[in-house]
Amino acid sequence: MQKSGKDILRVTRSKDEARRNYNRFSGWYDALAGGSEKKLRKIGLRKLLVKEGETVLEIGFGTGHCILELAGSVGDSGRVCGIDISGRMLEITESRVRKAGLEKRVQLECKDALNLDFAESSFDAVFMSFALELFDTPELEPLLRQCRRVLKKDGRMCVVAMSRRGKQTAMTKLYEWAHAAFPGFVDCRPIYAEEIIRASGFEIIGVTALSIWGLPVEIVLAAIDRQPGKPE
Ligand SMILES: C[S@@+](CC[C@H](N)C(=O)[O-])C[C@H]1O[C@@H](n2cnc3c(N)ncnc32)[C@H](O)[C@@H]1O
Repeated sequence: MQKSGKDILRVTRSKDEARRNYNRFSGWYDALAGGSEKKLRKIGLRKLLVKEGETVLEIGFGTGHCILELAGSVGDSGRVCGIDISGRMLEITESRVRKAGLEKRVQLECKDALNLDFAESSFDAVFMSFALELFDTPELEPLLRQCRRVLKKDGRMCVVAMSRRGKQTAMTKLYEWAHAAFPGFVDCRPIYAEEIIRASGFEIIGVTALSIWGLPVEIVLAAIDRQPGKPE
């Protein structure tokens, strides 16, 4: 098995740059990426299978389509929290939530998700779609360990991410070239999601391999693995 972090590219842009660029792209985001990513996000949400009354965290919610779906699933007795580094993404999502009349179920925050200050065991589920691969290699495990910390002991997480598994396609090579050439604009890159999630103390429940524009995508469903001898 290939080791997580071994040959994935670094993310060299700063967090301020990320904030500025996502603010700038926010108005076009759905036109640029929304359609093609929609199907994969939906598969991820189906795997997470959020139920009425649950408390869910989404990291990097973007224009808020999944926040809306999650808010529909948790019902009036549940709650959805979202964190995004871009204030403009937050405004777009807030307006979408308001229009749907779901604001009582949703709480959004604009900040770097590396600073997850929720209490331990706050959530039944964590969701990330096209967000984990935006964190630099040394940040991946600390972020996932934070996700694990804020999940309840029977909690689960679903991650939809561009993947570096398997044979490298021409599109993967092109994408990685673009990431290296334009690190501010093409800030995500393919990662070994399953491996890094497992290395962060999760038990892998299932992995679905798909693709988007010829780029491999992994949809990983994971749960907290609290077997004896595993680091907390
Ligand atoms: C590629 S978009 C994906 C949006 C959405 N999840 C989707 O599937 O359509 C990534 C989102 O993550 C946010 N983001 C990037 N870095 C972040 C960070 N360090 N903490 C929180 N959000 C971040 C961006 O602002 C952007 O909204």
